[in-house]
Amino acid sequence: MLSLTYTAALFGIDAFMVTVECNTKRALPLFEIVGLPGTSVKESKQRIMNCASNCGFPIPDMEVTVNLAPADRHKDGSALDLGILVALLRSAAILPEEADLSSSCFIGELSFTGEVRAVKGVLSMALAARDAGLAEIYVPEGNVKEAAAALTDHTKVYGVKNVPELVAHLRGEARIRGVTELPKIDVDKRLDFLEDFSQIKGQIRARRAVEIAAAGNHNLLLIGPPGSGKSMISKRIPTILPAMTYDEAIETTKLHSVAGLIPENGDIVTRRPFRSPHHSLSIASLVGGGAIPMPGEISLAHNGVLFLDELPEFNKAASEALRQPLEDQKVTITRAAGRVTFPSSFMLVCAMNPCKCGYFGSRRGTCTCKPADVRAYLSKISGPLLDRIDIQMEMPEVDFTEISSSEASESSAAIRERVEAAREISRERFRRAGYKEYSTMSNAKMNTDDLRRFCELDEDCLRIMEGSFKRMNLSARAYDRILRVARTIADLDNGGKKDKSGVIGGRITKKHVMEAVQMRALDKYW
Ligand SMILES: Nc1ncnc2c1ncn2[C@@H]1O[C@H](COP(=O)(O)OP(=O)(O)OP(=O)(O)O)[C@@H](O)[C@H]1O
Ligand SMILES: [Mg+2]
Repeated sequence: MLSLTYTAALFGIDAFMVTVECNTKRALPLFEIVGLPGTSVKESKQRIMNCASNCGFPIPDMEVTVNLAPADRHKDGSALDLGILVALLRSAAILPEEADLSSSCFIGELSFTGEVRAVKGVLSMALAARDAGLAEIYVPEGNVKEAAAALTDHTKVYGVKNVPELVAHLRGEARIRGVTELPKIDVDKRLDFLEDFSQIKGQIRARRAVEIAAAGNHNLLLIGPPGSGKSMISKRIPTILPAMTYDEAIETTKLHSVAGLIPENGDIVTRRPFRSPHHSLSIASLVGGGAIPMPGEISLAHNGVLFLDELPEFNKAASEALRQPLEDQKVTITRAAGRVTFPSSFMLVCAMNPCKCGYFGSRRGTCTCKPADVRAYLSKISGPLLDRIDIQMEMPEVDFTEISSSEASESSAAIRERVEAAREISRERFRRAGYKEYSTMSNAKMNTDDLRRFCELDEDCLRIMEGSFKRMNLSARAYDRILRVARTIADLDNGGKKDKSGVIGGRITKKHVMEAVQMRALDKYW
């Protein structure tokens, strides 16, 4: 008997619908799956047969052929198990004819005991099923929180614990309770971090640099001796970035789910990610890759922070690989099976010691490096990567009075308020300038045209720029970086004011330029 239902398979961050056609006939027992099944799909036969018989639904001896359409697309993953089992149960008349499977999608891995196990990428698969207009989506109970995002008036979502429960439901004997609401994006929860800026003592200049970076979405490099708090500050940057929107949360969750990072019964990702890969990581794990392409660290940091600690230890190839995603906010991986694009819009935060021993310029330790070694150490950083970092800030160690003070510093919530106000101003500026994507635009992304329009300097500012160029021997490329940062400082400073010329966020003044110039610590070495 022929039966038909749906399941889904992953390709990159997205999923595609798979039609499961199952045909059975009286003949010598045989189980064949066609339609470019990968190894894990071929192996599903064993799981399906053992699961069915252990749950009390033994499949009679017959010839079973399953076709997975579209037949020309490669399918992998154990998530197809459940769909194939359901089609087979229908063909074997274990599920009655009245059980309508033609508008249902089944996603989940089977255990021999009949349990429906959680799988990767459920959110993408559930959304694909919803977009295909299917009425019912069945997912493992352990993935139901992410799949809930596919709920609409026309699409129901069910979490399934085990096969007997699903069979009873499809036979109309005992219904499974469906999901009733979309995943909640609890404002308090998405801002509820263990870390907080109030725990950081002193470091006024570094805190300011981080606030400016967050306000303009600028990439940032912190340079300081060991123990000065570089990692501590960087880890807290997500706490001062604006709270995630629903769409950002869904997109980030898709990436984390595809990479298998959402734990069983886990919620969708509502906090901005902070990814801190070790410098020994491979290019594929940094930017994504593999025979079946998986997102790399840059995509797992999407809508959050990518932190490269000990920057000079990363090999040049890794920094080179970051260049294109930093420009495009996405990365494209080409494979025989097709092209996959993963979003990767992140704030890059790097940290490094000023020299090999770590104590160059330190108040406490004595540096044992020769001047030439210091230069050699700094030159290990890739120039083109450094070119994409707007703010380079030196961080000395905190002194004793600061560290022993019992006073709490300003909290992340207070800083975040200023960051959000500044972002609001820049968004408004881009909106009025006719930017279609003004909501995701930031000062850091301004191109040369924008710089001319929004970062006009008066005589005083130009004089300061000229002086700094001569004194600090700044390169031409530093000029644009300073303009961008100065724009953000003005936005933070002016809090929504307009000056007579109608510039939103106010004009850039001398003090904004001066502060921006101070955020180019490494330029003197180049
Ligand atoms: N400004 C600070 N306020 C409070 N604690 C601090 C501060 N700076 C450093 N510390 C303490 O010192 C520890 C080490 O800081 P952290 O790991 O951030 O240093 P680092 O600059 O990253 O050093 P390294 O170069 O060795 O990686 C922190 O865990 C914290 O306990
Ligand atoms: Mg550190």
